[in-house]
Amino acid sequence: MALADSTRVPGPDAPIGVFDSGLGGLTVLRALHERLPTEDLLYFGDTARVPYGTKGEKTVRAFARQDAGLLVARGVKMVVVACNTASAFALAHLSDVLPVPVLGVIEPGVRAALAATRGGTIGVIGTSGTIRSGRYQQGLEAAGLPAERIRAAECPLFVPLVEEGLGGHALATLAVAEYLRPLRDAGLDTLILGCTHYPLLAADIGAYLGPQVRLVDSAESLASAACVALADAGLLRSGPRAGRLGFILSDIPWKFAEIGARFLGKPIDDVESVGLDEMEEAGHALGSGRTADARIRKDPS
Ligand code: DGL
Repeated sequence: MALADSTRVPGPDAPIGVFDSGLGGLTVLRALHERLPTEDLLYFGDTARVPYGTKGEKTVRAFARQDAGLLVARGVKMVVVACNTASAFALAHLSDVLPVPVLGVIEPGVRAALAATRGGTIGVIGTSGTIRSGRYQQGLEAAGLPAERIRAAECPLFVPLVEEGLGGHALATLAVAEYLRPLRDAGLDTLILGCTHYPLLAADIGAYLGPQVRLVDSAESLASAACVALADAGLLRSGPRAGRLGFILSDIPWKFAEIGARFLGKPIDDVESVGLDEMEEAGHALGSGRTADARIRKDPS
């Protein structure tokens, strides 16, 4: 995808930027592409530094700032934080420093779960970082759900299982039972899949918990929220041309083609790779006032 001029305020024809710690966020990109088929989408995956889910808050926030900074430097009109861990630790910070609207996956996930529940107990599963941040639990409580009707579990083995394509395998069955037994015993009626990778284990999770438990994936709810936010800001792209997809990664992993296609549902071509030096520069640029200048400068075109 052609680079945009970062000194201009991005208009409706600019791409939407989407970032994740790696390739899992392609599940979110897919939902956005389906919901907003004429929008150009520019995806950044921090494949050199994945996983974020095991890392501390300060590190994840610094990485997320660089990820978002890179997309802003490429001229995106909105940033979507597809990574649950980065949404948990960095969304507030990004909202403060980015010159464009930014959306995370946690609020849409909470909204979707509240819409799905029939007054029962809601569970949330995610990486260690996401669950320990307490953001999903706080969101549910803030909406009035009593703490005793919320259950949470971290499931650290789910990410590598999905990356190895082991959905449906006996190893997945074992891991699901190990992590979800306490949630099943709590009598859930809704479970938030609070990680980019977990929709690819939905069949295993659904088989273990039973059909009475609704599985909620925030991607669709996020795509609707993005549509509303763009419309409110006058930034929806009009015109008949189909949206284009662009991909930037900080590393090209050995199994990139196989894993990427699994998440996106089709092969990925045309990937640009960026170095960590460019990432660091993008993170610094957000604080130096260069992007703040872009925010207030009038688009001369
Ligand atoms: N993308 C991460 C998330 O949704 C999962 C992978 C990782 O740990 O970085 O939390």
